[in-house]
Amino acid sequence: MHKIVIKGGVALAGEVQVSGAKNAVLPLLFATLLSAGQSEICNVPALRDIATAEALLNTLGATTLRVDDCCRIDATKIQSIEAPYDLVRTMRASVLVLGPLLARCGHARVSLPGGCAIGARPIDQHLKGFEALGAKITLDHGYVEAQTEGLRGAHIMFDMPTVGGTENLLMATALAEGDSIIENAAREPEIVQLAEALNSMGAKIEGAGTARIHIQGVSSLQPLNISVMPDRIEAGTFMIAAAMTKGNLLVRGACQQDQEALVQKMLEAGVSIDPEQDGLRVIGPHRLTPVDIRTSAFPGFPTDMQAQFMAMMALADGTSRVSENVFENRFMHVCELQRLGADISIDGHSAVIHGVKQLRGAPVMATDLRASACLILAGLAAENTTEVSRIYHLDRGYERIEEKLAGLGANIERVPE
Ligand code: UD1
Repeated sequence: MHKIVIKGGVALAGEVQVSGAKNAVLPLLFATLLSAGQSEICNVPALRDIATAEALLNTLGATTLRVDDCCRIDATKIQSIEAPYDLVRTMRASVLVLGPLLARCGHARVSLPGGCAIGARPIDQHLKGFEALGAKITLDHGYVEAQTEGLRGAHIMFDMPTVGGTENLLMATALAEGDSIIENAAREPEIVQLAEALNSMGAKIEGAGTARIHIQGVSSLQPLNISVMPDRIEAGTFMIAAAMTKGNLLVRGACQQDQEALVQKMLEAGVSIDPEQDGLRVIGPHRLTPVDIRTSAFPGFPTDMQAQFMAMMALADGTSRVSENVFENRFMHVCELQRLGADISIDGHSAVIHGVKQLRGAPVMATDLRASACLILAGLAAENTTEVSRIYHLDRGYERIEEKLAGLGANIERVPE
């Protein structure tokens, strides 16, 4: 087990390259199951969640081969239709094999993901969608079993915009017979990339990126060949690192269009953000202005940036309010930020943050992926030493973050606990 040790107080400077987006790669990897051939996905980050997804593909009978940042997946033979508990519990996105397996094999058995650190996170909307396509769903010994003689296009109306649900149903309807409509679809950029990927395989999908997606089913799909979009959450994390350390960073791969909600709030907080040729230049102010945020589905403020934004507001000149509307239990970083001297109280779904002039280093514990990033950010801005333990969460979603930050001048290292 390792921990990250940071001696804070350095203004970060220089350029950093954002890696491929974890949340885009995962559905793309599972989409390769839709085609009996060899696919290739490039700009794939080296992350624990990606390794878990590859292990799951191998369990199902697909072979995977890593060559540099590319992953070749041969899904010619599917030998199993079961996603076992051990893999699903380490990565909830494993439920995204349901759609592809059902469409390709007519049968899928996937362990129910259960709860996780940030909330209950049910998959009822995914299942409701598959049922509308004519699949029979049963729950048995903690597994969801889905079966069909052949999926038929349908009109699917989600109760809320769900990213995973939209992705799962896009993959299933691509090979269903006839037309499908997904209403109240999630609009995240990663969904747009998945739809583009499926279309490049021969699918007929229109409207991805809007709340109404139209899919004309086709009878077969070609293998996939694609390069993954940059990770907007990693980009946002570096943008906040610049803001909190009074730094000056060029975040290569950051795209304003995919980050509008974050960019607007950072501008309100007094951060300078300017587009350059292949990224965004971010310059932190002498003192941050307090700003309120409310998380919501895209294009609203992303819940995956909430913890990092809160760390930034902990240093603002006044009081701000951060409201979490997507997940019910996503404030576990608050206690850890308090250990670093932040003045935060929780009021239902909101956190009220009274900004302090200076955070002070302390040992802290990461509780989930984005909470780990928020603690690293706080440590970079704090005086003295911060030690972040339980960083296996961090390795699920940030590629070589300590190396990238060290390259920007941060005094940070990974050491054995
Ligand atoms: C994805 C992202 C995750 C991000 C989240 C919200 C991936 C791999 N993960 O997760 O990083 O934090 O979107 O932007 O892309 N819900 C239901 N029933 C369902 C499905 C969802 O009630 O069947 C609820 C969830 O509990 C949550 C909300 O809908 O409150 C949004 O969840 P969803 O968009 O599905 O998140 P994920 O796809 O799990």
